[in-house]
Parts: sequence; structure tokens; C-alpha cells
Amino acid sequence: MQTLAKRVEQIAPFQVMAVMARAKQLQAAGQDVIHLEVGEPDFSAPQAVNEAGIAAISEGKTGYTSATGLPELRQSISEFYLQRYGVDVNSERIVVTPGASGALLLLSSLMAEVGSEVLMPDPCYPCNRHFLLQVGAKARMLECFSENNFEIDLEQLQSEWRDQTTGLWLASPANPTGSVLSQEYIQQAWSIVQQQGGHLLVDEIYQGLVFEGHDFTALSISDDIFVVNSFSKYFAMTGWRLGWIVVPEWAIEGATKLAQNLFISASSVAQYAALRAFEPDVLAECEDRRQTLAKRRITLINGLKRLGLTIASAPQGAFYVYVDVSSITTDAMQWCLDLLQQEYVALTPGADFGHKEAHKYVRFAYTCDCDRIEQALLRIERFMAS
Ligand SMILES: Cc1ncc(COP(=O)(O)O)c(C=O)c1O
Repeated sequence: MQTLAKRVEQIAPFQVMAVMARAKQLQAAGQDVIHLEVGEPDFSAPQAVNEAGIAAISEGKTGYTSATGLPELRQSISEFYLQRYGVDVNSERIVVTPGASGALLLLSSLMAEVGSEVLMPDPCYPCNRHFLLQVGAKARMLECFSENNFEIDLEQLQSEWRDQTTGLWLASPANPTGSVLSQEYIQQAWSIVQQQGGHLLVDEIYQGLVFEGHDFTALSISDDIFVVNSFSKYFAMTGWRLGWIVVPEWAIEGATKLAQNLFISASSVAQYAALRAFEPDVLAECEDRRQTLAKRRITLINGLKRLGLTIASAPQGAFYVYVDVSSITTDAMQWCLDLLQQEYVALTPGADFGHKEAHKYVRFAYTCDCDRIEQALLRIERFMAS
């Protein structure tokens, strides 16, 4: 009998899939489901970007590009770092990838030896650990606490580093908590990692979506930090599947070889479309959207407080609020399913993001407009009272 590779068994299906499947059934039966579970705002890509993609198709720009991406796109990304963040990044260090997902897969291959482990916070983006599994490495998640904004304690980072530890992966702003790390924190974490001869990866996919705190790039701290980014979130181009990494000079050759072998190139059409994303009119549109998200964030935070729900960490960025529901349920997943069944509001259970305390939490994504968020809050209030 044919079997699948053993590693597939180690990938747990996302619990939110059960929520989404039920939400679909309810919707098909005519119910008005409010979606606060998806990590994707209700905006499409900016129209000018879409048109640039259509033009690229019409002009036949549909072949492979160079493996590291169109030189002009890498140059635009480099200029963006300089203009917005005051950091000079040689475009040769930028590798364009199929989404941040492609970037994380490539970096897993680039950095993690078979049998090695990478440290990351619990909770964090669930696919990280699965990318590492693909290359025979594993993630070791360090328990983080809401009192600490779900940051890894730096003394713990020091003491938990073992012979087989090769690196630390962080994200700022973070999914699922919306927390933003300070420049000082990343600086200190980097010092520890450097002393150990390890690598530091910072996932900046929610860069630009910072509502409190300082929006910066870890590249301002060191050229030796690996940074991941994407057109998915700030530029609302989720379905175009385009991201990038910035690697240190000494890793360019290795990253290029992997890009050639893993992907040949990222989508050419998406790359031509993304070139348009750095024009002032599109950047202004993205900024307007950020303001829209800022309003939604306040609406949601105020509403959750009104309901007496505990916001687990300072939701300073991305478009998530992580909420502690342990005072009203012992099982956040069941709470999500019951809420969906009774009031047609879909949320993501915390268990998708971590192991330790995750069953206490749910993630709200403020990805629909303020009226819908208010409606969702009313329904949750009614559900809690029932
Ligand atoms: C923290 C984080 N990293 C990476 C990704 C992957 O994004 P994409 O492949 O769409 O660029 C996501 C998606 O939600 C994410 O939240």
C-alpha cells in the first residue's frame, strides 16, 4: 500500500478550517455570517496594481524572470527601504519570492540543518514550524505570556539556547497578537543570537500596519539579520502571491541557488503589477487603507472592552486582536464553534497558533468594516448573555 511521508502526519490541520467549513455551510443555508477569522482584509489589490498586471499580460510579459526577481522591482524595494525607513539596502540582497510563504520555505532550507531547531514564540504564525519540518529541522516554541506582550523573555532566550539551536524567528507586528517589538528588544535579542553564532529572522509581513509604537525595519539594526516581507498585507495583494527576503551579503549566492531550484522565479505578472505599488498614488491609497484599519481597530478594542473581554496583549499593529476568553470558557475552540452556530460570527481559535496556553485565546481580525464589527460585537454580547 502506498503511504505518505511521515512528516505529513506531524502537520496538524488548522482548527480554523472547521470554523470556516461550518461558516460556509451556514452561509450556503442563507445565514449572514460575519467573518472575523480570516487574515485578509476585505480590500482587493489597488486598482492601479491590478491594471498593471493586466497590461503585463497584454504585453506578453509572461515568461520566467530572473530567479531573484525583476531587477527593477528589487531596486524599487530597495528605494522603499531608503525613503520610508532610512535604511540603505543593496538591491542585490533582495530576493523576490512567491509570497512570504515562499520566503519562509526558502529560508528554512537556507538556514536550518537536518536535526537542528529554531526558537520562536508560542504563540506565533503556525506555518513556521511546518516549513522547518520540510527540511528535517524543527521549531521549539518558547512559552510567552500576555503580561509580557507575548515576547520571548531574553534571559530565557539565553538559557534555552542549546547545541542544536541554529536560530530565532520573530515577527513584528505579530500574528496572532498584533504586538509590535521595540527596536531595543530586537537589538538585545540579536546580541544574544550573535553571541551564540546563530541567525535571526524577523518576519515583517505586517510592516506599515503599525498603529501604536514605532514602525521600523530590523535591517536598521544589522545587515546580518534576515528579513521577510510580502505584498500580501500592506499592499493588499494576497492572491498575487508575491513577497521578498533580504539576506546578508554572504548569503546571496546560497539564496539565489535555492530560489532557482525551488521556484525558478516568482510570477512575472505579479512582479510587473507590484512595480506599480511603489508609485505615490498607490502608496497614498495604502495609507488611506491603513487609516481605515486604524478606525476598525479602535471600534473593535472599545467594543471588546465594553463586553468585559480581556485583550491579551497590546494590539499595536497588523489587523488582529488576541482575546483571553478563559474567564468564560475552558475551551476556546468550542466557544468559537458555539458562537458561530448561535450567532454566525466566525473567529479563529488560539490553538492554531501555539501549544501552551493557546486554548484560552481567540483571534479577532478586523478585516471587515466598522458597522459589521459593531454588529458582530452585539451578537457576541447576546451570545455571552445566553
Ligand atoms: C506572520 C505571517 N508570515 C507569513 C505569512 C504568509 O503570507 P504570504 O505568503 O501571503 O505573503 C502570513 C500570512 O498570514 C503571516 O501572518
